[in-house]
Amino acid sequence: MSNVLVVTDASDLHGRAHDAAGGACMAVPSHPMPVDPRHLLSLTGSTVVPDVVIVDASRSAAEALALAARIDRELPATGVVLVGDPVELSVDAMRAGVRDVLRPGVEADELRATIERVAAAVGLRVAAPAAPVAQPTMLAAPGRVLSVLSPKGGAGKTTISTNLAVALAKGDPGSVVLVDLDLQFGDVATALGIDPDYTLDDVVRGTALSDPIALKSHLAQHASGLSVLCAPESPAAAERIGPEQVSALLVALSHQFRHVVVDTPPGLDGTTLAALDHTTDPLLLTTFDVPGARGLAKEMAALRELGMLTHARQVVLNFANPGSGLSVRDVEATIQSKVDLTIPHSKAATAAMNMGEPIVLRRPRDPIARQMGRLAAYYRAADQRRASGRHRAAA
Ligand SMILES: Nc1ncnc2c1ncn2[C@@H]1O[C@H](COP(=O)(O)OP(=O)(O)O)[C@@H](O)[C@H]1O
Ligand SMILES: [Mg+2]
Repeated sequence: MSNVLVVTDASDLHGRAHDAAGGACMAVPSHPMPVDPRHLLSLTGSTVVPDVVIVDASRSAAEALALAARIDRELPATGVVLVGDPVELSVDAMRAGVRDVLRPGVEADELRATIERVAAAVGLRVAAPAAPVAQPTMLAAPGRVLSVLSPKGGAGKTTISTNLAVALAKGDPGSVVLVDLDLQFGDVATALGIDPDYTLDDVVRGTALSDPIALKSHLAQHASGLSVLCAPESPAAAERIGPEQVSALLVALSHQFRHVVVDTPPGLDGTTLAALDHTTDPLLLTTFDVPGARGLAKEMAALRELGMLTHARQVVLNFANPGSGLSVRDVEATIQSKVDLTIPHSKAATAAMNMGEPIVLRRPRDPIARQMGRLAAYYRAADQRRASGRHRAAA
């Protein structure tokens, strides 16, 4: 049974929570609102940390949300439910890590179901993984971190990162992880047709960043042999993931996987820059038009200034069909760099995305799939050169 603590001045809400929790329910007043978990627990006079805290927000939503956010940060094994106006509170509640918002008149039955669901969810968050998990192997040297970047949305970052990752994984299952760093609107899960048990949000909230076994257990597995860490489900949860966490994540993954492929949001936000700090091989993407090429030129200039534009970069021109009024040379002149790979427009791309099946698996003869195969072969050859260089150096 779950231990419940209700923060309210309303005796009827306490009564319903008491019934819903089968008697395992304590109450403390909501006025004045306890300021933090330590204060809250001191009011109960008990040392038991509750599984679920129900905070009555009807008197002061701001104070209730502030307490909820502190509980979410400081008591990882406790889930918070607010009682108040769900429409008014839902966005702020999500930001504060609240698990559910219930109306003030909520019946005991609904309360019971919510308590059970929330207790199960926080239990999962802190419990060891149920399924046996392969022991992570530590690589002798960190793997390659390939980040796919473009200044604009719709350039094909997700198409390229998912297909490249699958193409690499097909040749060496278990050696590749794909990370969806488009934290707010990432669609790697859609593109791969997977429904992950955990997302980046769970990774940064738990112990996974400092525990290689826990980290591996948080990755989804794609049929191709690719491991995947998907973006959080809600845009609000993305706010919890900052540059430090991204750094720690990429360091940890690059010690466990030969290739870490990173999909990014458009442009260079703080988390993308953190990813670039750990990127060995940037993949810069542009569409075959003047705004796309100019945008990439600016992005490359910014990266050059930051010392992040290494020679290992690959420049990829997507939607490269004749008839746009531009030539590849025009694009190269604008970005002052060679285009390494061109990818034509293909009708198969959108259908593959909609079906959740990467083109390299669904249509291996499609021109996009062929180019992705070439790109994967290029990185495999670079790995071999690197490995033989190391052997020579060691000899
Ligand atoms: N070479 C291509 N030919 C046709 N459609 C493409 C191609 N590359 C990407 N697309 C489509 O364009 C849209 C945007 O691509 P996506 O990979 O999601 O871009 P981004 O991640 O940069 O926003 C998707 O519907 C995708 O299927
Ligand atoms: Mg995308």
